Amino acid sequence: MTHEIPGTLLLDPDVIDNPYPLYRRLHTEAPVWEIPGTGIFTVSTFGLLAEAVSRVDDFSSNIECLLYRDDSGLPARLTFGGGTDGQVLATADPPLHPVHRNAVFPELVAKRMRELEPAVAALAGELVTSALEHGDVEFMTAIGNLVPITVISRLIGFRDSNLDDLWSSAVNGTRLLASTRGLSALTDVTSSGDNVMAWIAQQLSAALSDPGEDLLGAVARAVNDDVLNEHEGVGMLMTLLSAGGETTTSLLGNAVRMLAENPDLQEHLRGNPDQIPTFAEEALRLESPFRYLMRSVPRDCTLGSVAIPGGSTVLLLWGAANRDPAEFERPDEIDLGRRVPRRHVAFGRGIHTCVGAPLARIEARVVLTTLIERTKSIALQPDHPPRWVNSLLVRRHEELPVRLKAR
Ligand code: HEM
Repeated sequence: MTHEIPGTLLLDPDVIDNPYPLYRRLHTEAPVWEIPGTGIFTVSTFGLLAEAVSRVDDFSSNIECLLYRDDSGLPARLTFGGGTDGQVLATADPPLHPVHRNAVFPELVAKRMRELEPAVAALAGELVTSALEHGDVEFMTAIGNLVPITVISRLIGFRDSNLDDLWSSAVNGTRLLASTRGLSALTDVTSSGDNVMAWIAQQLSAALSDPGEDLLGAVARAVNDDVLNEHEGVGMLMTLLSAGGETTTSLLGNAVRMLAENPDLQEHLRGNPDQIPTFAEEALRLESPFRYLMRSVPRDCTLGSVAIPGGSTVLLLWGAANRDPAEFERPDEIDLGRRVPRRHVAFGRGIHTCVGAPLARIEARVVLTTLIERTKSIALQPDHPPRWVNSLLVRRHEELPVRLKAR
């Protein structure tokens, strides 16, 4: 099928800021869209995305390339070869994937996530108190960036961590998939040394002789049992840091932005705090923290009657599927009355569905409840508009200046 959507739209800075008009076009004109001449395809409808994640033989999670913006503004691939070497958990396919997942995420981890709630509440209370003393704050540095990285570090069980370093490393990891940089900037990121990786390797090495009851201990046991080698163990911990830190940060900021732009919603939630978790689901659906994740196509296949040649790269646009009008009535509106509020794909779907969703939900509920209960109003600062991160991957605020009035 030929159509006229220019390939340069995907990485156009205005579209990165507001991708939803493009997503709407894709839903109707090209649910599976081959970005002309690139070998890169996007999938934007809920139904086709659900189908793609279930066909793991056709759509592999093995990461084989990074994307960059070429001189003409089109996405292009920096390929580094295939194979299963170094593919860990999120980028591993069966039969390796369930082995990784079961080794590191037993029931114990879900229990530990629940046990972290009092610590999340204490931290949120402290940060909101300090923000209210100032009134005008940049939400991300004051609260949004701090809570998830602190919590994920505790969940993993890192000792004596430097949270600033961990945050920089988490963001550096996802910057590789931002896809908005030119080739030389991308190569700079890939070749920049990461001290945190060496530090994590030391943490893992220390845990090998005495694995504790935390995620670090679970990874160490997997290394001791030869399920993972040490290099893969470090990769697993880096994945957790990036996946668990930045995404939840995005969710917190996106939800607070929606509150700040919607005083009626704030009032409603102040009177009905039990609906805050439902609001968090709508925030996840409307501004999905991961806009896309990648799949590789090992052999020729077809999706939605579009032929996809072997060797192609597929971008699953979670953020587009979550606004598919065929799946959600009034998809662009916050609706706290949706019959199944969790029926979105912000946490993915299928075998790779997010293992950290319960923790992200706890953090969102606790932080948003603390803010709603302790404020009379949350507003944007009139002279300082919010700013999104320039990334095709993450939907996160670089800056979110807000004005908080205490109750
Ligand atoms: C709002 C917060 C979060 C969002 C939106 C999110 C989103 C996602 C998505 C879309 C996937 C699917 C990946 C795919 O299919 O390729 C995923 C997987 C994953 N997430 Fe999350 N995530 C969040 C929080 C967390 C947290 C807090 C953790 C860690 C505790 C975490 C760890 C992981 C891991 C390890 C995977 C890979 C699972 C697998 O491959 O089996 N995430 N996440």
